[in-house]
Amino acid sequence: MIGELDVAVAEFPFGEMTCNEMSFTERDERYRRLHEWPEPTYPHPSGLRMIWKYADVREVLDATTPGLSTANSLDPLVGFGRIAATPRALPHVVRHLVPPPAAATANLTDDQLHKRVWSTMAGPTGHFTIAPGERTHRAAAMAEHFHAVCDSLHQPRAGAHLDVTTISIAYAAQTVGAAVGLPPTDWPQVAVWSGAQSGLLGRAMRGRELADAVRALGWLFTVSSRATRARRGDEATGFARRLRDAGISRRIAVSAMANSLAAGVHTVSGTLQQGVQRLLADPERKWWKLLTEPEGCARVAAKLLQLDPGLVAWKRRAETPVVLRSGTQLPAGPLLVMFGAANRDPAAFPDCLDLHGSGKLPLTFGFGRHICPGKSMATLAVEVFLRQLYELAPDAELVPHAGHTAPRRSDLLFSGADITVRW
Ligand code: HEM
Repeated sequence: MIGELDVAVAEFPFGEMTCNEMSFTERDERYRRLHEWPEPTYPHPSGLRMIWKYADVREVLDATTPGLSTANSLDPLVGFGRIAATPRALPHVVRHLVPPPAAATANLTDDQLHKRVWSTMAGPTGHFTIAPGERTHRAAAMAEHFHAVCDSLHQPRAGAHLDVTTISIAYAAQTVGAAVGLPPTDWPQVAVWSGAQSGLLGRAMRGRELADAVRALGWLFTVSSRATRARRGDEATGFARRLRDAGISRRIAVSAMANSLAAGVHTVSGTLQQGVQRLLADPERKWWKLLTEPEGCARVAAKLLQLDPGLVAWKRRAETPVVLRSGTQLPAGPLLVMFGAANRDPAAFPDCLDLHGSGKLPLTFGFGRHICPGKSMATLAVEVFLRQLYELAPDAELVPHAGHTAPRRSDLLFSGADITVRW
């Protein structure tokens, strides 16, 4: 407990460290301390004001309260000015990002148009929605991706090491690349490009690293543009064709595709890495053993998505000073909406670390108009991966520090873990 006298000297739990740099035990401890912090907001040195209380996070994600905007959701953390001032980045901007891509998803502020794009992806018949009747064959296709990746990276033998981090990224890239309709030759690059693009949103990059990230973002748009050109014809099927049939312009369709590629990979793979760490760190393997049967597997996946999502926060902006319904006051400026933290708010989840703990709807996939259209696909992808990993290596053990020597980087949005297991 932080007493009043300690407040002045207590360290804000997420002032310097980000989730991406912590093991799950440290994350558990810092989130616990966060919810004891006496203030409901914190001015982070990045310039973003952090919020973490469940009710505040939900209201700000929803962004229907006057003064709250989604317009900055996909802005790079360092701002467009720094990109413009980075000479190495400019050729990539010119090659891939001129004219500038259209807003199509998270940062599209035209509500009517956004609704049209969102409905092609989500809702009962959306492209990324997995209807109950489709679960079995979609799960089988995901399992094939899992095994294709494992076969390409590892020789199956007892005692060998499995690099869960690499496998999970390649698996998520294949799963999302296939759903979006990119040709398989592009899938390996999607993992790299979407990693760099994700970094642009949550990391303070500069110089060559910033230029490389801009290049990667550019490529996401370029391959999406090629895929929409190839797949909007009358014979075509898939996402591009659906967007066309919904009357969505090609320019917006390209952005919807690129945004989905960027959104789907490290969110899923980060969840898997952190989740496997939590499951295998338990000496009794209580949750791990539940992966043997479908209901247990679904429950464990849902819990990991609540506690250890690969995306922990998202951006919004207060255009004017705003007072939220809880009374929390937000000055005008950019916000970091910490939904990973909100998922552990004791006011909403009395015992969040309990697998059977009760509580409100976790905010992992957002809330309101922009709620994640990939939700059902991502949830199934997490279930399938965990189940397949369990079946492949039921006695897997974590191998500390194997093969991953560089420290994980500071990232305000995305979070993962370097995980190797012994077969
Ligand atoms: C564990 C995995 C995932 C997490 C935690 C996650 C989380 C989120 C969140 C929080 C938002 C809301 C953004 C906002 O309110 O502005 C969002 C939006 C979005 N997500 Fe996901 N996502 C995941 C997987 C996926 C996948 C697999 C796809 C694509 C196949 C996807 C595509 C999108 C798109 C296109 C949006 C923008 C929606 C809009 O603003 O209209 N996501 N996601």
